[in-house]
Amino acid sequence: MNPRPKLLITRKVFPEVIERLAPYFDIDSNQDDDEWPRATLLARAADRDALFVVASDRVDRELLAACPRLRIVATGSVGYNHIDLAACGERGVAVSNTPDVLTEATADMAWALLMATARRVCESEHWLRAGKWGRWAFDQWLGADVYGTTLGIVGMGRIGSAVARRARGFEMKILYHNRSRAPNEAELGARRVELDELLREADHVVLVLPYSAATHHAIGARELAAMKPTATLVNIARGGIVDDAALVDALRAGRIAGAGLDVYENEPALHPGLLTVPNVVLTPHIGSATRSSRVGMAMLAAENLVAFATGAALPTPVATA
Ligand code: DGY
Repeated sequence: MNPRPKLLITRKVFPEVIERLAPYFDIDSNQDDDEWPRATLLARAADRDALFVVASDRVDRELLAACPRLRIVATGSVGYNHIDLAACGERGVAVSNTPDVLTEATADMAWALLMATARRVCESEHWLRAGKWGRWAFDQWLGADVYGTTLGIVGMGRIGSAVARRARGFEMKILYHNRSRAPNEAELGARRVELDELLREADHVVLVLPYSAATHHAIGARELAAMKPTATLVNIARGGIVDDAALVDALRAGRIAGAGLDVYENEPALHPGLLTVPNVVLTPHIGSATRSSRVGMAMLAAENLVAFATGAALPTPVATA
């Protein structure tokens, strides 16, 4: 009998996921969720046939060279910008990700950030908790309208479409910017425009595009200056799409009204300025953090690994060629 393939799971996952994988793999896993230095990851991965990684694990040429037996990388994330697909393709390493299972939860989170930013929920809550609420006033904590305003969605994939579907309930005009035309744009009542037009026209801008070298700092000082001074910006996509230093400057100078951020350049480290500007809502990369989504993501990564172990087609492969 062939020995079972060796799998490394780099982070703590739900027990049912380990149970699903156990019959198929010889598993080494980080169930204590220790902070592994890079050298530990490389050493633990060295004799593995399969890796179960997350978005903070960099799968690059260095790691691939350290793992000569590696045949599959299953990431427990929809984003795969942390994986060098070309290098995996060259070495015949398959890659899978976890689309769909987190779409609705992430779209909900975009709306949570949009509403909290527009209506200054966090700023006013901090003020209240600090015991500063002495009296009600007409002009207290005035925020931005959401209902009936214009929403700009940058990136109209699955999550962008789910954000747009919710906007219909708010009777918003929906603009989007995407490389290709969204096949469902008529159903969503959304109009495709150039980025500059979207930034100029939108009252609320939501970023849902994948990160790549081409989208690095897609929103920088120039783009922020193009937005309305009353507009809000939400990033639930990836750190690095927004130039965080330029955003801090724009928020400080009142060039836009506010921002809601779930992702950051160099996270979990934050640009220090973000902690000092009041008109920003900050969450720690929790866009997909509902139990059903996170279990769904981990289980889908596991299903890809089981398919690999049994010689079946991967349910959600990422093209590596
Ligand atoms: C994803 O799935 O890409 C989320 O950002 C979690 O990493």
